Amino acid sequence: MSFPRDFLWGAATSAYQIEGATREDGRGPSVWDVFATEPGRTHLGQTGDVAADHYHRAEQDVSLMAQLGLNAYRFSIAWPRILPAGIGQVSEAGLDFYDRLVDRLLENSITPVATLYHWDLPLALYERGGWRNRETAYAFAEYTETVARRLGDRVRWWLTQNEPWCSAYLGYCSGEHAPGVQADAQGAVDVGHHLLLSHGLAIPRIRAHVEEARIGAALNLFPIFAGDQRPETVRAVQRADRFHNRWFLDPLYLGEYPPELFAELGATPPPIQADDFKIIGAPTDFLGVNYYNRWVIRGERPENASEHDAPHGVEYIRDLPQDAVTEMGWEVYPHGLDMILEEVSRAYHPPSLLITENGAAFHDEWNGDGRVADRRRVAYLRDHLRAVERAIQHAAPVVGYFVWSLLDNFEWAQGYSKRFGLVYVDFETQRRVIKDSGRWYAGFIAGQRA
Ligand code: FCB
Repeated sequence: MSFPRDFLWGAATSAYQIEGATREDGRGPSVWDVFATEPGRTHLGQTGDVAADHYHRAEQDVSLMAQLGLNAYRFSIAWPRILPAGIGQVSEAGLDFYDRLVDRLLENSITPVATLYHWDLPLALYERGGWRNRETAYAFAEYTETVARRLGDRVRWWLTQNEPWCSAYLGYCSGEHAPGVQADAQGAVDVGHHLLLSHGLAIPRIRAHVEEARIGAALNLFPIFAGDQRPETVRAVQRADRFHNRWFLDPLYLGEYPPELFAELGATPPPIQADDFKIIGAPTDFLGVNYYNRWVIRGERPENASEHDAPHGVEYIRDLPQDAVTEMGWEVYPHGLDMILEEVSRAYHPPSLLITENGAAFHDEWNGDGRVADRRRVAYLRDHLRAVERAIQHAAPVVGYFVWSLLDNFEWAQGYSKRFGLVYVDFETQRRVIKDSGRWYAGFIAGQRA
């Protein structure tokens, strides 16, 4: 396989999933700290309090990246470390942590790619309405500027929001993620709008402090396939595409929401103010694509429909054999990656594309020594990299690829039961062991960079 010379070869993580040290150096509480301790929210009640202890092991973890030969690393900044109450008082200790991390990365010739929001909203802001409140978007812009002022001389690549669909839908409809609100479609719609607004407001704040900034948002996108030919299935495919993809793509690139979307979710449009689409549509430099799987769906038979289903009338086909899915139950479907990259390029013309997440959880077995033989993850990565190559051949302007994840970590509601890392973490001792997939990826990158 051959990729462009200056291609970014990376791995990704997020703050709450790896850092731990949730009460150290003045970090304020976030919605995830609270959510994870509520009964029944996460696997075995697990939390990110310790996670992969990266806050204390950042230096060792950068050495691991260097061993893997990565030339880029995507991490997220914990808003409650920078502003413990979300606004107001800035914590120098919080800024210092990321400052040191960035320096270590640069010393190892690893390009830092910083995500400003990967779901850890400061609790104090949630208590004022969280993302339902428009003010949170302005608070985010202030926080962004604080960070950009400090790191902007060394960090060129910025992601504003990670997967706003998850923050909105999983946070307010399914309730699987913090803050765990259920069946509040209007809440999800309003939250989605304010997340988009926060993205747009943050862009000029970054540009003000960063020369040649590269800015984008990361969306989780899914190609949607029809499970049969019935007309209701054809309509359901369009509905699911609006729900999974166009809800965030259209306002970012086309200056509007898909008109049918809100009714299909059982809501009304969010409170859109006069210049909102202009703000949201501020030019970006790339689109971040997180890809895990496709959805095969059919139009639901009315007798099966529940009024809380969103979008109405879509049935997901999930009965797949064990060897076709990952530990998350997600179908392994590499061709979906080139499809989505090509479709997005054609429909929205982003100046470039970064694959900001792609990877898989499998049941890994550590031999107690230096080896984790994760054969299926190696195959997964190889097949998805082939898909990336195909997309590039078909003119999708892909400039980088980040494996989710560098390290095994706290997989949100699934706690520590799902391992995505290139590097195994023994959570008892915090020992790190490079998996076979990590070695394979290192060899692959070395081959590409030679
Ligand atoms: C994405 C998230 C990331 C991780 C992967 C598996 O939705 O952005 O934090 O949990 O899924």
